[in-house]
Amino acid sequence: MYAFEAFLPTRIVFGAGKVGELRKYIEGLGKKAMIVTGRRSTKESGLLDRVLQILRSKGIDAVVFDKITPNPVLESVDEGARIARQEKVEFIIGLGGGSAIDSGKAIAVAACSGGSYWDYTRVGGRKRPRCALPIVAIPTTHGTGTEADPFLVITNTKTKEKLGEGFGKLTFPVVSIVDPETMVTLPKDQTAYTSMDAFYHSLEVFLNVNAYPYSDVLALDSMKRVVSNLRVAYENPRDIEARSELAWASTEAGITETLVGVVANHALEHGLSGFNDRVVHGLGLCTLGPHFLEYIFDHAYRRIAIVGREVFGVQEIDDKRAAALAINKLWEFQEVYGCNMPIRELGIAKEDFQEMAEIVYRMFKGLAEVTPGKPGVEDFVKIYEMAW
Ligand SMILES: [Fe+2]
Repeated sequence: MYAFEAFLPTRIVFGAGKVGELRKYIEGLGKKAMIVTGRRSTKESGLLDRVLQILRSKGIDAVVFDKITPNPVLESVDEGARIARQEKVEFIIGLGGGSAIDSGKAIAVAACSGGSYWDYTRVGGRKRPRCALPIVAIPTTHGTGTEADPFLVITNTKTKEKLGEGFGKLTFPVVSIVDPETMVTLPKDQTAYTSMDAFYHSLEVFLNVNAYPYSDVLALDSMKRVVSNLRVAYENPRDIEARSELAWASTEAGITETLVGVVANHALEHGLSGFNDRVVHGLGLCTLGPHFLEYIFDHAYRRIAIVGREVFGVQEIDDKRAAALAINKLWEFQEVYGCNMPIRELGIAKEDFQEMAEIVYRMFKGLAEVTPGKPGVEDFVKIYEMAW
């Protein structure tokens, strides 16, 4: 019945306070590290200093590369890789949200294999990377799942391509320290958006035509944890139990995404944030998500019904009715966090729909093909119109 292979080589160290044990896990990675991080939050929270101190205590030199922006861009990644080569950096620590860790992965590839990161992407050059520096991931948000997967998302601002890539074992972190204490300073809105990113990873994996029991159990569990804990963390950001549940939901979603992969909702979102870099990924997913479910309803209602019953407590035997109720519940859930926005409010121009759909379809054809009903470019345009 089922045939599958699961490759999950990352050592995941999970738990409150685990950053304090970092020194144990970087043994043998080298004497010079590059910390890839954003401009502000890890400095303000004191986390960057703490990590620097731990490295110093082990006699490891560190270069701090702190030019990473949300929706990270190719220019900074290539600059980071140049510096890493010049400074003879031996391993990378991605410290921060998904953008810092994804940039760390891209820098690890380009620093070791040479040239520009884009040379190694499926749209930029298709060169096979020779190697990548080892990557240590310390996430401070609970959404992207990048701590447990080989994927990275980098935007080429010249071509407006926001591209998700993965390089198998080269871009799996060698170790990820998932410490919910590092996440308590996340502001309310980001708490919601990042959690919804994890939710949609799991929802999309669950709808993927290649889903199987291992991916299902993680996907459903992670959606449940988001639905039952987001409210608490949103209202009380320092609630460490709720943060731990959301952190695990995110890592779990990352694992299940590694097993099976997301579907076209993520492709569609990359159109929004590729065209307007101020669009937050998690919010973009929410603005499209319920419409996406409506659009693929006839091909996916049995699976959506399961989500309704298992995640949202829908009590309805008929699959079509249960699936419709599930979509209503999703709307209601998102409403609490201000995530039900029409995409016109995200600064997206209707005239761009066709071009957006064409670009993302070209880049993410694989995701469309594993989506129930196999949507094409015209379907993508229709979903954008529904969400307008
Ligand atoms: Fe995502």
